Amino acid sequence: MPPHRHGLHVYAHGVLKYSPFPFIFLNKTTPKPKMAELKASIAADAKLEMWSYALGFTPMALVKCAIDLQIADVIDSHGGSMTLPALSAALACSPPVLRRIMRYLVHRRIFSHTASSYSQTPLSHLLMRGAADSMAAVVLLESTPTMLAPWQRLSLRARQADGSPFEDEHGRDIWSFANANPEHSKLIDDAMSCIAIASADAVADQYPEAFDGISSLVDVGGGDGTALRILVKAFPWIQGISFDLPHVASAAPPCDGVKHVAGDMFQAVPNADAAFLMSVLHDWNDEECIAILRKCKEAIKEKVMIVEAVIGEEEEEEEEEEDKYSDVRLALDMVMLAHTSGKERTLKEWEFVVKEAGFSRFTVKHIKAIPAVIEAYP
Ligand SMILES: C[S@@+](CC[C@H](N)C(=O)[O-])C[C@H]1O[C@@H](n2cnc3c(N)ncnc32)[C@H](O)[C@@H]1O
Repeated sequence: MPPHRHGLHVYAHGVLKYSPFPFIFLNKTTPKPKMAELKASIAADAKLEMWSYALGFTPMALVKCAIDLQIADVIDSHGGSMTLPALSAALACSPPVLRRIMRYLVHRRIFSHTASSYSQTPLSHLLMRGAADSMAAVVLLESTPTMLAPWQRLSLRARQADGSPFEDEHGRDIWSFANANPEHSKLIDDAMSCIAIASADAVADQYPEAFDGISSLVDVGGGDGTALRILVKAFPWIQGISFDLPHVASAAPPCDGVKHVAGDMFQAVPNADAAFLMSVLHDWNDEECIAILRKCKEAIKEKVMIVEAVIGEEEEEEEEEEDKYSDVRLALDMVMLAHTSGKERTLKEWEFVVKEAGFSRFTVKHIKAIPAVIEAYP
């Protein structure tokens, strides 16, 4: 009888080991008895893991549900902790249904549950609509039927060299769609503002010297001006110009030190010492990117600052910390594939567009954030 039939733990690096069955001792030449079991266990794990893809929509749907119901806001306004009856009453929810929803969210560590009460966690704080670092608007945008529908076309997109599933689905690109749909435009602006706060804070904190000697800064595709608001506060000597399409610039809130200017970056960019482009170039293909960068080059005296992800080359090994950012960067690249004609770029791809746009040199400053700061000099 082959020894592995007994399910014994026999090998460690091919060395003879003790078997708990008294009459069975194995030597180095015995075939590896655990191989079949190991294969079965790997297959079972793979099947279990594949469930998380098959049901991958669930966490997004549940987080969206928590935002819609304002669960985190309500728990917060009740001192940070609530029982199921109190929470159900406050949210006007059916207690047995809410209990199931909360059980899932607790399982995902979005809320905690101790002593019969649900409490906030660092994750649930991010779902509060009013929180300074809230990510609720990003979840609300990405979970709209408008943004989800193009994902169904990803395999079709894979068979084309260019194009945009969003455009195929909705008949126009995301920016024209936003222009015609003010509610969707507001969702985009709010989501971008959430992301801009984190990125602009990281740039201002970790790379303040980039703003030395810059007295005017034009934020090209500046959205509602969130990034510039943070930058002029951190570097009060800077005069800010937030430049965006008319429907965005006209809806942007006023801010001291920031002038909102409407226009089209493919036509012309307002003059300034430096231009700042954050989460803009990844929306466009190389040709479009080069055209935008050329317009920026015409408008500036000093440099163009590009705040965007730099995707690691595939052969590069990454540290665990960096790997966390990579996960988001690579997912964002897929978002670009679904929603725009653009992409997240590797260092070589950035070098290509920057050089093609006529810049003589560029530097890259990596920071602890999803984007890096690429500075291109005329
Ligand atoms: C992804 S958002 C980034 C917004 C902002 N930079 C941020 O980080 O929050 C891209 C921005 O580019 C703007 N945009 C698109 N096409 C444009 C154009 N032709 N001229 C100027 N801005 C444009 C959009 O309206 C949008 O606000």
